[in-house]
Amino acid sequence: MNAVEIKPDVYWVGGIDWNLRNFHGYITPRGSTYNSYLILDKKVTLIDTVKHYLFDEMKARISSVIDPKKIDVVVSNHVEMDHSGSLPKLLDIASDATLVTSTRGERGLKQHYDNNWKFKVVDAGDNISIGKRTLDFIPIPMVHWPDSMVTYSKKDSILFPNDAFGQHIASTERFDDQLEWGILREEAAKYYANIVLPFGGQVQKALSEVSKLKFDTIAPSHGIIWRSHLKDIIPLYDKWSKNETKPYAVIVYDTMWGSTEKLAFALASSLESEGINVRLHHVQSSPFSEIITDILEAKLIAIGSPTLNNNMLPSIGGFLTYLKGLKPLHRIGFVFGSYGWGGQAVKQVGDILKEMKWEFPEDHVNINFVPTEKDLLLVENKGKKLAKKVKLNEK
Ligand code: FEO
Repeated sequence: MNAVEIKPDVYWVGGIDWNLRNFHGYITPRGSTYNSYLILDKKVTLIDTVKHYLFDEMKARISSVIDPKKIDVVVSNHVEMDHSGSLPKLLDIASDATLVTSTRGERGLKQHYDNNWKFKVVDAGDNISIGKRTLDFIPIPMVHWPDSMVTYSKKDSILFPNDAFGQHIASTERFDDQLEWGILREEAAKYYANIVLPFGGQVQKALSEVSKLKFDTIAPSHGIIWRSHLKDIIPLYDKWSKNETKPYAVIVYDTMWGSTEKLAFALASSLESEGINVRLHHVQSSPFSEIITDILEAKLIAIGSPTLNNNMLPSIGGFLTYLKGLKPLHRIGFVFGSYGWGGQAVKQVGDILKEMKWEFPEDHVNINFVPTEKDLLLVENKGKKLAKKVKLNEK
């Protein structure tokens, strides 16, 4: 377990979580990393730590270049425990170290851990000298928590933005030019969709702040380090945070006896015939985190549910709870479903989606029992009209 030098005297000393498959509900088929960075300067500085169970790995990597007791400064960019979980053990060893964090960071760390740590609170415009280097701090509240901040080393031309620009990828490759761009884009998009999507306005502010800085490397707290694809990933963050979409559709549905599924396939077929690409998800076959990744850039989102005991199916209810929390904006919505009697599900789904302030150019479709040819034609016609609307919106 060695440190990886990413620039002269700046080392990656993180932990690789090879077997992580679920990050608080976000399915992570490629695992993840928690990235800590060690800077060897007059004051030896560590930026962020790792999840508690990877402390020994981080310690071994630090020890490959310096005795951890010699750490003088620890920067905590973000309180969440995947980055702060090893602080207690680390600060037992580096017991004289100063812990640099934001105001909310100090409050959060005191609430998470019983400690008498030596805090230094920093705010916008503050910096500290660690020898040849000055570290600047830029608050980026809500990217990902209110306490979040970026650390910037001008001398190294590195931005340490913690969760921002992260991806859940476990690998021994450390840089973006060592893995395929397709994998990086997919995992960066999935990360954005599942973690950062509700905070588009705050991301815009953060991008505006960091655009004033000169850097050639972005060293996030998860996944690989960006040094070759900055020109790709920064514009993507700009687009995603503005909720810019592409002209394709996502259909999410559940079904009891196949009726709502027939409607879903009729809609998909109609959209496809009009040249609109479709991603179709049976909500019990796809993890929510995969569906939301498809939704990230989709213009049209259609949701289908049958009625069960006067309600939408619980699986659709769970998905809508997840979707509502992540708040994709500026979309076209469409709702469909089937019922035996009652038929409340479609209105319930529609009411939840209305809270998202999407556009609904077509009325809901609610079919009694099994759809007839006429019912399927109705859905297909709506699909054609929705396709036109999607194309119109993209011009
Ligand atoms: Fe990677 Fe918000 O923690």
